[in-house]
Amino acid sequence: MASLFARKPIGELQVDQESTGGLKRALGVGDLVMLSIGAVIGAGIFSTLGTAAAGEVNAAGQVVRYGAGPALVLSFLLLGAVCGLAALCYAELAAMIPQAGSAYAYSYATLGELLAWIIGWDLILEYAVGNVAVAIAWAGYFNSLISPWVQLPGWITHGYWNAKALAANGDAAMQQVIDTAPRLGGIPVLINLPAFLIVMAITWLLVIGVKESTRVNNAMVVVKLLVLALFIIVGAMHIDTANYTPFAPNGFRGIHQGAAIVFFAFIGFDAISTAAEETKNPQRNMPLGIMIGLGVCTVIYMIVGAVATGLIPYQQLKSSDPLAHAFEVAGLTQFSWIIAAGAVVSMAAVLLVFQYGQPRIFYAMARDGLLPPWAAKIHPKYRTPHITTILTGVLVAVGALLADDAATYDLTNIGTLSAFALVCVGVLVLRIKEPNRPRPFRVPFVWGVTLLGAGACVFVMWGLPVHAWERFGIWLLIGLAIYFVYGYRNSVLRRGGGPPSSGATPVPQAPLEGKQ
Ligand code: ALA
Repeated sequence: MASLFARKPIGELQVDQESTGGLKRALGVGDLVMLSIGAVIGAGIFSTLGTAAAGEVNAAGQVVRYGAGPALVLSFLLLGAVCGLAALCYAELAAMIPQAGSAYAYSYATLGELLAWIIGWDLILEYAVGNVAVAIAWAGYFNSLISPWVQLPGWITHGYWNAKALAANGDAAMQQVIDTAPRLGGIPVLINLPAFLIVMAITWLLVIGVKESTRVNNAMVVVKLLVLALFIIVGAMHIDTANYTPFAPNGFRGIHQGAAIVFFAFIGFDAISTAAEETKNPQRNMPLGIMIGLGVCTVIYMIVGAVATGLIPYQQLKSSDPLAHAFEVAGLTQFSWIIAAGAVVSMAAVLLVFQYGQPRIFYAMARDGLLPPWAAKIHPKYRTPHITTILTGVLVAVGALLADDAATYDLTNIGTLSAFALVCVGVLVLRIKEPNRPRPFRVPFVWGVTLLGAGACVFVMWGLPVHAWERFGIWLLIGLAIYFVYGYRNSVLRRGGGPPSSGATPVPQAPLEGKQ
């Protein structure tokens, strides 16, 4: 039993780091902040903001979740604080264990193998399932962007589960799309083709090894900041203060449940810790980069939230493209097109970061023997983990082709929050077990911050609907089954820590280091 909680010694993690082919340390604080904004600002602010403000009601008229109303700014503030606590914990571990693999690698050293596996399994929700949601949101904005010229038929712009969910919630137009869609063996063919194609295109870029991705990322970050600045400046000039009353129509319950969905907007600040092996002086730069990135995004979100709920009545924000929609409702149609274009660019950047991160987490897990050795293979010419990159691409693309975005947001949020909570606990455990290990960055008030951080993550999770918990439970059961059938028997650590299974090759050159 004890071996389930076997911990990978930190020294070994650092040896792994030596043996990874010596990635070039090219990233400074500024690059990390840019990477963080690149990963963070996307579908959350461009898409979930509407549901967070307005709430959700099912076809039977029952409230599925309460909206925050104009008090959405308080949801953002709450999340900034919760993520700030988790970010401090990430920063301590990222500086101490500067290794690719993020929370998975940290927890292997702190909480043991079983919990590390569970966190790795949760990270699939954060990265791969999260990207299904981002791809669907991307496609929604893409469709509105091209709509002045091309109107794609509904059956190729809505995945099966998405169309069914919309129709079940009383969307008559969607019911008509379902009724008139082509049939395959009696089943209506309902696919989100643009979402599928964008994921496949990004997968291809990653397989061939996009070397300039830091530069491309910086350009995309500039675009998204400009677009949000445009939204804020133009929107602020058209605010009707009457829209701020009532400020919190559903009280704290609305602020809490709104926060639970818009949490998606914060996911990603942790993802930059996967670049620890490529960061100059990670002990100083990693904590600074994580905290500054989070702070900048929180402030931007609060301002965008205040402008959006001031521009139109919060109930009208419920839309898959709420920012562009808010401008349309406010009669600012000439700007809504620019917002849609900016959203398409922003979300492509998010897709790139997460499609990049997932295969490297698979890589780290395969290197430890918890996944089959082929998952750690790299392409002889492109030096990328091509098999897992393609596998991730196909899984995400097929998910985006058929899934319902609301369900994927919830599942992503619950999985990510649980990983954050475990990371917070991991910091405390390691302080107790190895108090003297050098810590370049130390979480202040460690008992308070770690316990409050873990508790706050669970509290936000609590704001998610019951079906999200049910699906999360099923996900965990599947993960445990895979662990006991495969990982438990093949773990390198359990087998005496020999060399990684055959087929594992040094970690690939990461595109993130390709700063030109
Ligand atoms: N935070 C990222 C987004 O909102 C995942 O798209």
